[in-house]
Amino acid sequence: MKTPKTFTIVTFGCQMNKSDSELMEISLLQEGFVKSTTYGDIIIFNTCSVRKHAEDRALAHIIEARNAYKNSIIVVAGCMAQRLSRELKSNYGVDLVVGPYHSPAIGSIIKNFIQHQSNGEYISQDVKDFVSRIHPSLATHKDDLPWHKWVTISHGCENYCAYCIVPYVRGKLISFPSQQIIDYCKLLIGNGITEITLLGQNVNQYGQDSGDIPFYTLLEKIAQLPGLYKLNFITSHPKDFNIEILHVINNNPVIARSIHLPLQSGSDTVLQAMNRQYTMKHYYTIIDAIHKLLPMASISTDLIVGFPGETQKDFEDTINAVRTIQFDEAFTYKYSPREGTKAFTLPDSVPDTAKQERLDMLIQTVREISQKRLMNHIHTTTDMIVERISKKSEDEVMGKTIYNHPIIIKGAKEDIGKKYTVTIVSLKGSTLYGERSA
Ligand code: SAH
Ligand code: SF4
Ligand code: F3S
Repeated sequence: MKTPKTFTIVTFGCQMNKSDSELMEISLLQEGFVKSTTYGDIIIFNTCSVRKHAEDRALAHIIEARNAYKNSIIVVAGCMAQRLSRELKSNYGVDLVVGPYHSPAIGSIIKNFIQHQSNGEYISQDVKDFVSRIHPSLATHKDDLPWHKWVTISHGCENYCAYCIVPYVRGKLISFPSQQIIDYCKLLIGNGITEITLLGQNVNQYGQDSGDIPFYTLLEKIAQLPGLYKLNFITSHPKDFNIEILHVINNNPVIARSIHLPLQSGSDTVLQAMNRQYTMKHYYTIIDAIHKLLPMASISTDLIVGFPGETQKDFEDTINAVRTIQFDEAFTYKYSPREGTKAFTLPDSVPDTAKQERLDMLIQTVREISQKRLMNHIHTTTDMIVERISKKSEDEVMGKTIYNHPIIIKGAKEDIGKKYTVTIVSLKGSTLYGERSA
């Protein structure tokens, strides 16, 4: 048999997975494998377990690939590899399972597997097996937007929200050393990167495991590196978010005026059952502080409907919270039971039809509010970074404002990656239209 050479990576799930896939690609290239746009000798699925639907989708791709490519090496990496591990090999004919601790070293892992030096299972969560996400080779690797980079500052999560599989599949919180992160950001900026997004399951907990500087200090140090146009960060957690972060944003115009603060539910009873460790009162305190310090800032959130025991009244509390807070954007989900989590032991009490009704109503409410929030920006002036030619017109370009709202202005290919000051003139659908200031 010829030595397997070409590889394809198919990525599911969140930004953390997309970022891991980049590292996996670098690792494979470094070991001499060749990237292919079609399924080749090695087919890798970087998977997500956050909801059942995410796993079902990945499994359908895995089954299809196994059937059609009998001689290829099928690799499952990421969160579902960690969760199902051996089952993927015995029930789905997968050759190799590689959990998140190991995935950035996948090149040498596959090489060893080909040379019959392993049993094809890499799912340990022993700290000694953890491969860091800060990797200088990433600095020259191009993102979808060539001036933008995701920078993972911490891995894993120890919050154990009752519904969530992430702590089990990603393991405990590991914050990377601040000096390494800052040096890496400097390297990126030196290579022409002008926009950075700091990434972690709960970035506000940064350093709590290692005794490193707190998140707001790290944010400030990176914001002050010369050459940056824009600095974003996701995700925040209401129990750890603090006023210092808002002061740092306020003092550093380069930081996006856009805060993603998952609420999950507007009912204190449900929040407690979810083990979110904050009350609505606390959440409103943060919202008030944001309004005081950063009155125009956009606030986005995640919401789950149909958590076990959620009554119609609890759901109405969520709707009322959404109306009171006036989120600019909300990612809304139907609760999906995940084996191994605390909520899995509770009866999935809300029937799917009710979950769907609640979801539809929530989406409708969120949509109306986002529209109104966007209207407030008309006649204001803001900075934007141009991302691409508009899909609708050749002489228009689309980008994002400092509030991370999509915006269209007149422009051409040469404007891509540039930062402009614009005045917003109108709103069509959910897109703002602006004009460049002289
Ligand atoms: N660490 C981030 C993201 C976690 S996953 C955070 O804490 O916000 C992204 C979102 O998926 C969560 O915010 C939650 O709204 C949703 N989610 C997680 N587990 C879920 C489940 N079992 N069912 C439905 N939605 C879920
Ligand atoms: Fe999951 Fe909660 Fe951790 Fe977010 S904070 S990853 S929702 S356990
Ligand atoms: Fe991300 Fe899904 Fe894993 S949301 S952390 S890829 S379970």
